[in-house]
Amino acid sequence: MKPLFECQSITFLDIIKPSTLTIYDSLITSINGASGSGKSTLLSFLNGTKSPSSGLIYYKGQDILDIDIVKHRRNVVLVEQKPVLFPGTVYSNLIIGLQIQHKKIPPENLLKNYLDDFHLSFSLQESIYSLSGGEAQRVCIIRCLLLQPEVLLLDEPTSSLDENTADHVLHYLIQVHQRSSMNIIFSSHSEKLSSKADNIIQIAEKRMGSSL
Ligand SMILES: Nc1ncnc2c1ncn2[C@@H]1O[C@H](COP(=O)(O)OP(=O)(O)OP(=O)(O)O)[C@@H](O)[C@H]1O
Ligand SMILES: [Mg+2]
Repeated sequence: MKPLFECQSITFLDIIKPSTLTIYDSLITSINGASGSGKSTLLSFLNGTKSPSSGLIYYKGQDILDIDIVKHRRNVVLVEQKPVLFPGTVYSNLIIGLQIQHKKIPPENLLKNYLDDFHLSFSLQESIYSLSGGEAQRVCIIRCLLLQPEVLLLDEPTSSLDENTADHVLHYLIQVHQRSSMNIIFSSHSEKLSSKADNIIQIAEKRMGSSL
């Protein structure tokens, strides 16, 4: 198996003790741990939005400090734990990343298919202010999927969803992984969710003195 990310002796304040771990290419990886154990922090290290206090992180063998950060964040896209939507419609939110990256905007019927696939019954012209937390979370996932990154990082992607919808979203993401080369790394406290992953990284409880 080829390493995708290699973290060497990374620390973060007093939260992450020196930790060395490898996330392998072409797998679905789950990062598990209790609330406050550092799951979101680790994901933000991987796409370079946060840096460890010490230690090194390699992406495909290259120190991420040596990679152009804008390029890296295009290759490794993070869907944050709290959905971030911009004022406007669902449509404008779905295409904003593509616009920024000067990529082709898919036709509206294709975008609507994504909404259907994610069990979202509103129209593309719906205002984002009328969305629930779980709906907003799924719109954010679709926005990032449309970018077709090399790696999709999902921070607790199903935390606001009921069990059926969560199962459906997970099944969809597994299919995406199987038919494309997209790497999927998600954080979770749910054993059910992580049981679908090929590889599980367990983060030890916060300030217990043990490591990732
Ligand atoms: N920049 C920062 N400065 C200080 N403490 C921080 C910073 N960022 C995160 N923390 C702390 O690090 C700890 C881990 O946070 P993190 O959000 O990574 O945990 P988590 O495992 O994702 O938790 P949850 O399951 O609740 O989302 C928390 O105690 C948080 O308050
Ligand atoms: Mg978190």
